[in-house]
Amino acid sequence: MKYTFILSLVSIATVALARDQQQSTFSLPELQIQNDLNQLTDDLLQVESITTSCSSCISLLHLIKKMSYMSESFLISTLTKVCKRTNKVDNECEGVIREQAPIIRKVLPSMTVSGRDGHLMCAAILNSCPYPDIEHWNVPFPKPKPDILPTLSKSRGRTMTVLQLSDWHIDPDYIPGSEVICDKPICCRPAYTDYTNITKLASIWGEYSCDTPLTLIKSLLDYIPKVEPDITFGIMTGDVPPHEVWATLPILKTQLIQDETYRLLHQHFDSPYSLDSMLYPAVGNHEAAPSNNFPLKSTNIPIEIEKDYLDLKWLYKSLAHSWRGWLSLKTNPQVERNTGSYTARPVRGLKLVSLNTNFCYTLNWWLYEHPIQKDPNGVLSWLIQELQDSEDRAERVWIIGHIAPGDSTCFHDYANYYNQIIDRYSHIISGQFFGHTHKDEMTIFYGHNKNQTAKEAISVGYVAPSITPFHNLNPGFRVYKIDTETFEVVDSITYTADLDQASAWLDGPNWHVEYSAREAFNSTLAHLPSPSSPLSAAWWHNVTVDMENNQETFNKYHLFTTKSSPLTKECDDDCRKNTICNIRAGKSEQRCDYESDVFHGEDIGTKRETYKPETHLCAMNLVGVRSQQ
Ligand SMILES: *[C@@H]1O[C@H](CO)[C@@H](O)[C@H](O)[C@H]1NC(C)=O
Ligand SMILES: *[C@@H]1O[C@H](CO)[C@@H](O)[C@H](O)[C@H]1NC(C)=O
Ligand SMILES: *[C@@H]1O[C@H](CO)[C@@H](O)[C@H](O)[C@H]1NC(C)=O
Ligand SMILES: *[C@@H]1O[C@H](CO)[C@@H](O)[C@H](O)[C@H]1NC(C)=O
Repeated sequence: MKYTFILSLVSIATVALARDQQQSTFSLPELQIQNDLNQLTDDLLQVESITTSCSSCISLLHLIKKMSYMSESFLISTLTKVCKRTNKVDNECEGVIREQAPIIRKVLPSMTVSGRDGHLMCAAILNSCPYPDIEHWNVPFPKPKPDILPTLSKSRGRTMTVLQLSDWHIDPDYIPGSEVICDKPICCRPAYTDYTNITKLASIWGEYSCDTPLTLIKSLLDYIPKVEPDITFGIMTGDVPPHEVWATLPILKTQLIQDETYRLLHQHFDSPYSLDSMLYPAVGNHEAAPSNNFPLKSTNIPIEIEKDYLDLKWLYKSLAHSWRGWLSLKTNPQVERNTGSYTARPVRGLKLVSLNTNFCYTLNWWLYEHPIQKDPNGVLSWLIQELQDSEDRAERVWIIGHIAPGDSTCFHDYANYYNQIIDRYSHIISGQFFGHTHKDEMTIFYGHNKNQTAKEAISVGYVAPSITPFHNLNPGFRVYKIDTETFEVVDSITYTADLDQASAWLDGPNWHVEYSAREAFNSTLAHLPSPSSPLSAAWWHNVTVDMENNQETFNKYHLFTTKSSPLTKECDDDCRKNTICNIRAGKSEQRCDYESDVFHGEDIGTKRETYKPETHLCAMNLVGVRSQQ
């Protein structure tokens, strides 16, 4: 299954156009561009070189920028033509181009391609340029951190239960008995099945190469109240639609999937015979159509009337509608006004901030529009306002969102500014909860510009696993035991089902507890003194120290990331170092899968030596399919 990213496509396009003597249906300037294409070096023509050479990537951006001044149909047809020639998955490729190219065409002409903008794009998306240093910004706060911290309510040793669901990626086209092994991005669909010659039949409950069938979701919703009958409230950290990034349009289709899913969730959460609790959702990158592209208020949306859906007003409106009943009548309009972010008070003493973190997502093309904004859409200032308000009231705060700031797909600059905010208000922030990676993970925040030590660890982001088994993962969800007064996490319990045994399940999925973080990671290096002591940031830091020192502890964490999937990849010493480094990178600039460098404004065409996990190299990732796996 070879799939390519738009940028790689253009490089192939270059080859194709250079060698294609037939075509001549374009205008003069378009032909001029094709002449330019001919002059590009062989180096550029190697798809592989785009991911290893900064200068090749920058040249490519120049090329697409040039093409962006031509007609939209020229850009799309050039890319599509090539796609058909070079890709087995031509329809999917074509779809991605049709949906995403008009946005790229709008954004690229504004960018300084040879300057910071271009280098940022090549670094953030392809990891092919050294990552430009962050632009320093001392985030302004309404008040300095108080010398004497306000007295907040103290633990009484009691806990409540909170449920976290994430990354459903429900596929309405999933049909049991269809083909599991196909050459498409996701399988288990009749359209991708040759019924005369099936290699492996899709089970009723899901497959590792496919998104989630409704049956799996229903079984999960029926199972939860049986084992957790007393849920105080639930959170849902985004990504309801399938990974069908080549066909998110017309918007009605994406919207319908979300409407229907939230209707199902209401049935379960609102029923006294089922979950009987509130659910607080956050916006994922797949909620948008086209995927990932959340415009800013300042964005120059193309003015053509048939493209007005790009403003996503329809999305915020429909989400606000779907979330009615869980959000108060007062909060509900906030979702629309505030591009998907809102606050709620699920229980007395706790403010929940649901943050639309797609404004830090590296595949949100709108964010590259020059000049690149430090606080896109003012979401960070809004967050500060809300935190200040809570500090003044002496209440605790939780932040929930789809993409964690420490994720490889969140801009370093944004994550740096975000970290300053967490540092300033760490005394009232008692939890952060994210999704997006599909894996069961953690991310630790440290005092701004402080050492990564237990003493300096200030906050933990719980990155919850996906329901979707895509890709090579078991389905899962988390339940937290939360201190009723401090709202700190006292335990994090992951449930999963062993999808490889699906054909043997007689009564549905074998949902079971996979592990309790308290039990799994309590050790001499990361010691939990009492049954009610919280899983603090310092404790989690010590768990990472234990992972450094004890292979067994690391192996446990590594296996849990995939929810104990039999398809879990081996993780050698480099991979282990990298994984631990990334857990400690609540500030994404501290990750170890990027080469950090001061940007001197010149092309650095060197071969990259940085450790690159698969996510950066896999081309499918780059249209937003594999990255969220
Ligand atoms: C059936 O599919 C397999 C693998 O996709 C292929 O190798 C084989 O040639 C196919 N057989 C027929 C009869 O089409
Ligand atoms: C903390 O960092 C400073 C430099 O930033 C360094 O000099 C110091 O040794 C570090 N302390 C520890 C305990 O690692
Ligand atoms: C942690 O482990 C130690 C030693 O194995 C045990 O004595 C202690 O009770 C455990 N703490 C918790 C909170 O489970
Ligand atoms: C973390 O480890 C350090 C060093 O061993 C220790 O001093 C500290 O008490 C530990 N903190 C927690 C919360 O486990």
